[in-house]
Amino acid sequence: MDYFQIIDGVMHVEDMPLTRIAEEVGSPVYVYSQATLIRHAQVFREALTKAGINNPHIAFAIKANPNLAVLKVLAGEGYGADVVSGGEMRRALAAGIPAKDIVFSGVGKDDAEMAAALKAGIGQFNIESEEEGRDLAALAETLGLRADAVLRVNPDVDAQTNAKISTGKAENKFGIGLHQTPAIYGRLAALPGLNMRGVALHIGSQLLNLEPLETAFGKIGKLITDLRNAGHSISHVDLGGGLGVRYKEGDVPPHPDEYGAMVARATKDWGVQLMFEPGRVICGNAGVLVTKVIRVKPGSGNTPFVIVDAAMNDLARPALYDAWHDFEAVSPTGDRFTANIVGPVCETGDTFAMGREIDKVIAGDLAIFRTAGAYGATMASTYNSRGLVPEVLVSGDRYAVVAERIEPATILAAEHVPDWLA
Ligand code: LLP
Repeated sequence: MDYFQIIDGVMHVEDMPLTRIAEEVGSPVYVYSQATLIRHAQVFREALTKAGINNPHIAFAIKANPNLAVLKVLAGEGYGADVVSGGEMRRALAAGIPAKDIVFSGVGKDDAEMAAALKAGIGQFNIESEEEGRDLAALAETLGLRADAVLRVNPDVDAQTNAKISTGKAENKFGIGLHQTPAIYGRLAALPGLNMRGVALHIGSQLLNLEPLETAFGKIGKLITDLRNAGHSISHVDLGGGLGVRYKEGDVPPHPDEYGAMVARATKDWGVQLMFEPGRVICGNAGVLVTKVIRVKPGSGNTPFVIVDAAMNDLARPALYDAWHDFEAVSPTGDRFTANIVGPVCETGDTFAMGREIDKVIAGDLAIFRTAGAYGATMASTYNSRGLVPEVLVSGDRYAVVAERIEPATILAAEHVPDWLA
């Protein structure tokens, strides 16, 4: 459930008409609903507790939406953070998320990032390789610390999602193969700089089917037994994120309740602190990208091009993953037509939809791309020397600009011509 709906003919976010935000902040602009974020955070947590999972540790995967205000909202719901870079760690801390509730994931943590995380006292490192574990242990020892850590396992299952966001197959760069895990775990557990306390996995994102997860959890259950039999004390298991959301009619993502029930079933004998790293399911449907139609241009045949002021640099998912984002007029007339929706960037990849039936729009109309709250603004670039889109948070009948528009002039001002060219 979200809080984006037509009231008196105009799309609102909670009690705020998008026409007002577009008028005052301009377009394109990302708009988030605080009530939706809170609701999703609560529904996810309740799904776990209802299923009997006691005191789950939930770390929001910041990569999905790192906006400081969004993090602040989720911190208010007791969420920790899953970070994958020094920059994300900084944001989590700036949002007031306690260091102990931060999990440091990511396949290429460098020494500077790990040292900063150790000094900040973050709660857990999810180690991706023996080499990384040794580097972390050495850094921790130098600092006179012992890092709480788990080993990320690659369970070799097909998450049945887009290949670019699958992370749990043997050929993917993530984690350590199951058969190698006991030996590597043993060697890392022997290092004085590490307190090895369990394992982690994350098999992919936008999962619309729970089976691959359940299969993976089954393999982890067996691994836990093997590690315990080898004398290790396993107290923490991080089950990652991955729960999909509805982008398109016909998408039927598992309800968090079904996910919770499956997790409870798969982990019932584990006797560990379970940890979670949801991203998209919390924020995906809590945001839209508001855009303005620049003009409508006839196409070949009868299908016109609707050229909007948002482009692939602002919302990269369609160009990167052939992703679908619903497109709706902010003030729909009831008329519909079939069109190609494209941005102004100079490549054919800058296409949001081809031959799609949508609300009839004309030059100057406002429209939204839905489900843009996850992996939207954060994946923006300045390609074609376009600026960075601002972000707005709505709560009831108020809104605030929570990330300013970065104008092309600001970006240009950070570039320098060397004196030999002056
Ligand atoms: N934990 C780890 C270790 C991850 O790599 C990810 C996402 C998550 C948690 C959160 O997954 P979620 O619950 O959001 O599915 N840019 C792509 C998605 C990339 C996901 C990367 N990892 C997209 O726009 O679809």
